[in-house]
Amino acid sequence: MAWWVRRAMQCLPYSRLAVVAVSLPKLSHWQRTKAANIELIPTRRGFHEKLAEQLRGMRILFLEFGVFQGESIKYWLTLNDNPGSRFVGFDTFTGLPEKWHTNFGQVDAGSFDVGGNAPVVSDSRCSFRKGIFQDTLPVFLEGLDATSYDNIVLHLDADLYSSTLFVLAECNALIRVGTILVFDEFPSVLNEFRAFEDWAAAYQRRYTPLLATSRIEQVAIRID
Ligand SMILES: C[S@@+](CC[C@H](N)C(=O)[O-])C[C@H]1O[C@@H](n2cnc3c(N)ncnc32)[C@H](O)[C@@H]1O
Repeated sequence: MAWWVRRAMQCLPYSRLAVVAVSLPKLSHWQRTKAANIELIPTRRGFHEKLAEQLRGMRILFLEFGVFQGESIKYWLTLNDNPGSRFVGFDTFTGLPEKWHTNFGQVDAGSFDVGGNAPVVSDSRCSFRKGIFQDTLPVFLEGLDATSYDNIVLHLDADLYSSTLFVLAECNALIRVGTILVFDEFPSVLNEFRAFEDWAAAYQRRYTPLLATSRIEQVAIRID
């Protein structure tokens, strides 16, 4: 590349929008090359139901990263009735630890604050870990024996790149063949999509996309 082109490019101001603009075609490329035959489900609820159907009767370990008021984890409790299944929800319960830059906007740090209170759930299979993942997850994993579960589901709904990448990297040893990763905001190209791509590349993980909602918002991916 000519020196003056490189020099001119160094003078360009940083623009997050420009990064989004170059990342969106990357997502479309991913869809065309990796997820062309993915099954599309019209609604978020229908998507979770269809996924849970594939795990019907199984003893699952369901880990949710980003709980907020507990809507999704509570729903999963109704979708899997194996008494040996375990559901663990991780959240600060005081909201996002940093600002979330969506594709074309931003959500303030502290959004999704529920006053530090985990949802009230009467199902004894479900528990919560309060605090930032970076503190709570390593401690949880230390004491975990995941060998007796038929399958593992990670529900990644933390919105942020930093949080999602941390969880995937920290859980890398737990994520085995057949593990299902569920993303809630996959088209957020600077966040969940980027974190997934970076993790899969760094750890050389192979996978098959299974299901998505119609606009590829929620995506379920099986690890191969
Ligand atoms: C969109 S909300 C989760 C929504 C929920 N799954 C539902 O379906 O209603 C995202 C949550 O991720 C949590 N979160 C994001 N990064 C986190 C981190 N590093 N540690 C703990 N919680 C985090 C926020 O506190 C927030 O409650």
